[in-house]
Amino acid sequence: MPTKNRASFGSRLGIIFASVGSAVGLGNIWRFPYETGQNGGGAFLLVYIICVLCFGFPLMMTEFFIGRHTRSNAVGAFRALTSKRGWRNLGYVGVLAAFLILGFYSVVSGWTLEYIWQALSGSLSGKTAEMFMADFEAFSGSIVRPILWLAIFLVITHLIIISGVRKGIEQSAKWMMPLLFLILIVLCIRSLTLPGAKEGLQFLFQPDFSKISSGVVLSALGQAFFSLSIGAACMITYSSYFTRETNIPKTALSVTLLDTMVAILAGIIIFPAVFNFGIAPTQGPNLVFVTLPNIFEQLPWGSVWAFFFFLLLALAALTSVISLHESVTAYVEEQYNLTRSRAALWVSGSVFALGIVASLSIGIWKAHTLFGLTLFDLLDYTTAKILMPLGSMLVCLFVGWLVDRKTLQDDLTNQGKIRMRLFPFFVVFLKYIAPIIIALIFLNEIGLF
Ligand code: PHE
Repeated sequence: MPTKNRASFGSRLGIIFASVGSAVGLGNIWRFPYETGQNGGGAFLLVYIICVLCFGFPLMMTEFFIGRHTRSNAVGAFRALTSKRGWRNLGYVGVLAAFLILGFYSVVSGWTLEYIWQALSGSLSGKTAEMFMADFEAFSGSIVRPILWLAIFLVITHLIIISGVRKGIEQSAKWMMPLLFLILIVLCIRSLTLPGAKEGLQFLFQPDFSKISSGVVLSALGQAFFSLSIGAACMITYSSYFTRETNIPKTALSVTLLDTMVAILAGIIIFPAVFNFGIAPTQGPNLVFVTLPNIFEQLPWGSVWAFFFFLLLALAALTSVISLHESVTAYVEEQYNLTRSRAALWVSGSVFALGIVASLSIGIWKAHTLFGLTLFDLLDYTTAKILMPLGSMLVCLFVGWLVDRKTLQDDLTNQGKIRMRLFPFFVVFLKYIAPIIIALIFLNEIGLF
């Protein structure tokens, strides 16, 4: 429920940095390059950009509307908007997605700390490609170390969360995001000056249309939602801390463009390097943890590049984990009337428990699978390919059909202060276009057609 003295972000820049911080994460630097590598390079990038602009951007505006209008956590937000049974509970889909994402995302975030450590201690140098592979598998499959890093990562997140929306989330984003952009640019220049750069760029930017299939389209759509933090309660929660003056269409557009730019820049860092050393781009999730250290190792000052790259990855991961944690914490805090620190403790504790199981599921419990997937992969699959697209489809239907048109328009235009000429089209998009297309892509992929 909306409360009078609810926290809010302190400045426009803070709003942008925090939201971009949520969007930019492992999704851009770890997931996007390997999805692009596995789904045919340029063709995937093209479909991805279309998905981002046609679905990501309007859906982000929609989530911003829900959050700022109700000034509530995601569960409370839908309850404030309707009394219709069923629809009232739509917020749970997002909060559940956020929690499940945290389960595997924070494990991978912990890995980034291990690699920072290895770069600093010099243990990344002097290895062959096979050794990088073997060491990554030994590390990620081991029992203690990944869980230790997971714990450290969660403690950092926890401390930021309990410092509050302004002092914790906003302040930390304000120095982490500029640092992240700086590292990104430096690494880009390094990569572009490698001899294999041209081939890498061709792979990334020259679409081969024969590679586009329904699987590629669903992957691109899932990746767009994942990368923009849509369908996982985060943008609803963050926008509940926006002010009445925040320009929603403009903020959504800035976040969408910056996030896409970071993904493309990550591709520009990774693919030239991959092609320079004649490595296949189709490695999958190992790409940045095995291939890149191997590449850095062959460059002068290798450990320094590796250090900066993994620092980049860790910072990006941290600002996203903070937003996921905040979405669940805000829900627990407000719906169960707990203090913020108590709510955060519950969330950190349960995420740690889920993270331990996810981490062990790719190690000693590898043999235990469901539908052929380990718990780790299952968490990734169910969130990015099921909960986020389906949740978003329901959100479109909800706002399109159940929310009063005037309320929506007043809120998105700040009571008429902002011009939004495409508003009538936006409503048609929410009511029909988006739900139908998301449903078609989804049904096609699960084989119902
Ligand atoms: N957008 C984040 C990334 O790209 C991940 C994320 C998903 C964060 C959903 C919040 C909600 O890494």
